[in-house]
Formats: sequence, C-alpha cells, structure tokens
Amino acid sequence: MTAATEPRAIPFFNYKGAFSAREDEYVSIFRDTIHRGAFIQQRDLHDFEHHLAEYLGVKHAIGVGNATDGLVMAWRSAGLVAGDEVIFPSHTMVASPASIVHAGGIPVPVDCGDDHLIDPNAIEAAITSRTRAIMPVQLNGRTANMDRIQEVAARYGLFILEDSAQALGSQFKGRFAGTFGRAGVFSFYPAKLLGCFGDGGAVVTNDDEIARKVLLLRDHGRDDTGEVVTWGFNSRLDNLQAAILDLQFRDYDVIITHRRELAAAYQEQLGDLGEVDLPPAPDADSDHFDVFQNYEIEADRRDELRRALAAQGIGTIIQWGGKAVHQFAALGLNRSLPRTDRLFERCLMLPMNMMVSLDDVGFVCSHVRRFYRGE
Ligand SMILES: Cc1ncc(COP(=O)(O)O)c(C=O)c1O
Repeated sequence: MTAATEPRAIPFFNYKGAFSAREDEYVSIFRDTIHRGAFIQQRDLHDFEHHLAEYLGVKHAIGVGNATDGLVMAWRSAGLVAGDEVIFPSHTMVASPASIVHAGGIPVPVDCGDDHLIDPNAIEAAITSRTRAIMPVQLNGRTANMDRIQEVAARYGLFILEDSAQALGSQFKGRFAGTFGRAGVFSFYPAKLLGCFGDGGAVVTNDDEIARKVLLLRDHGRDDTGEVVTWGFNSRLDNLQAAILDLQFRDYDVIITHRRELAAAYQEQLGDLGEVDLPPAPDADSDHFDVFQNYEIEADRRDELRRALAAQGIGTIIQWGGKAVHQFAALGLNRSLPRTDRLFERCLMLPMNMMVSLDDVGFVCSHVRRFYRGE
C-alpha cells in the first residue's frame, strides 16, 4: 500500500477538527463575551457588520438569525407583495423559494446550466405579466453570469435579489456575489466558508430604505427609541456568533485560498476522467472568481462510487436529500427541468473544507480513479 492509498478518515464535515484548530481563541471569545454579558446587538455584532460591509464594498451589512429569515426580510423590505412571481433556479436549497412564499410571493423554478447555476437562457421563457423579480442563487461559491441576468431584468423591469448564502467572497467580473441586486443574503450556517456555531446570516444592501426596514424587521419592528413601528420578527445575529465570525473573517483570504487550492488539485487529478464532470477550474476564466463552498461533481454510477468512497472512509454528500426543489411533490412546483433532473441523477460533493489537505485530495482522487479505471 502506498501512502496515498493507506486507509484514513476524511469526513465530509469536520466541525470538531475546525474547533480544535483554534480552540484557545474561541474559548477566549466565549469568556470575554460572556463576562461582558454582551449577548444581543452589542459591539461585536456591530464590528462584524462593519467589517463585512467594508469587505464587500456595500453601505449596509445587517446580521440576522439565519439566511432564510434574511431572505424573507429582504423580500419584504424590497417591496415584494402577494401574488408577485419570482424566478429562481430549482437547483437550490428549499430555503430559497420558501423565503418567497413567506413574503407572499409565488416561486417559479427554472432550469440550471452546466455550471449548476441558474441558466440565464431559461429566465425569459418563465416571465409572465406577474413576474416581479429574479433570484439568482450563487451556489457552491460561484456567481452566475450576472451580465445576462441583469440585462433580462432591465429589459422586463424586474428587480434582482441574490441568494448568495453559499458565496461570500465569490466574484463575477470583479464584483462580489450579493452586491448585484437590491439586496444579497449570506448564511453563516456551520458548514459555510464563514461558519458560526449555530445559525447566522446577513443581509447586505446599498439601499438605505431596505436597510432601514431590515433593521426594524429583525428586532420586533422596533426603532432605536424602542417605538414599535411595524410588525417584526426576532431574527438578530447573536453577539457571540458575530464575535466568532469576526475572528474567522480576519483570515478569510486564507480560507478562500485553501479551498481554491483543493479545487485545483481535484481538477489536476480528475480532469482527464471521462466518467466525471468537474466544476469549472479556479482559473477557468477571468470573469469568475469561485470560492468553492462545495465541490460538486457529476459522476457516472454515482451511487456506486459513493459507496466505494465510503468504504475507504471518504465522506461525500448528495445535496438536499437528493432532490431539486421542483421534485418535492408536496410543494406543488413540479415541471419539466431536464438539466436539473439529469444533474440530480449524477451529482456528488467531494470533501471540501479547511480540514481537508492536498494529501487528502490525492487520496480521494486515487480512489475515484481506482473505481473507474482500477488504477
Ligand atoms: C442556497 C441556500 N440558500 C439559503 C440557505 C439557508 O441558509 P440558513 O440555513 O442560514 O437559513 C442555504 C443554507 O444552506 C443555502 O444553501
């Protein structure tokens, strides 16, 4: 057995490892924050919001309880009203269309393209007299071709709201995901590039009025004086979570670089296999800067491959219970989306997180090759 093939465990998620790697710093944050009794809407939250806004070059970043709530509040603040249709890609987490429904809108799913993101060509055919907005979902750490989406939106008078839950730091033509539409929403769910110890999210916008409304909505509809001016929610980003995120954010470039290096290694070692389709390589084109929230491949005999990798201790994931949104019968959104249907027969996520090493990628790739080629 060579070093590259000796058994080892590469879990898909490795929260324990990620915590242990910075345990002292995290414990010091817990101690400091708890000693100050700084739990809700305190300095740490404002610091993190400030750093996030500065990084993205936006006027406002507002910490919220999770991205799903953030999307609901963003829709409501951007003026979506009952009966408005919103076009979104069915290849997404159910949270994306759920946010539209909870804001009174009607989600209209469309197909994805070969990069697994919303197919700009599919949008126009789905537009009706009731269409009000487009929600690109910047999936797997990649930003959709926003030129084409913005062009369709402008032509039909639609507004854009980005579900950029999976794409903090991703760019299209030098502009960050989350900053193209009227608002963008990020998730800090533990598995995200920037992940807290529980739920967390943020709404970002350059629109003062949207920011004002989201600030009210996240805190029971109360303004700075405590006056209740609208029906609100309780969906604030906890101060402790913000402090943890702020720590991770200091090294955010390191996180992105690591993931891009892993993606480049996967590309180098699997790129010649005809049985798999890989995501675009990190240097595939100069328009996209991908941050690889996930490394989602398409694979022949996907389920067999998954079992073979599991037998070697390699964790993989098939996203969202193996179904696109339009495939969940209870939601009543069924329609023909052939590219998305094909994707869900073949998609598989290979290990991609801060605890995965280049050596681990070598191990994974050697077993993928063995599976197909007996190498
Ligand atoms: C594309 C997408 N949108 C929305 C969400 C919801 O995020 P949250 O769990 O923070 O509500 C997720 C979560 O994983 C997601 O992947």
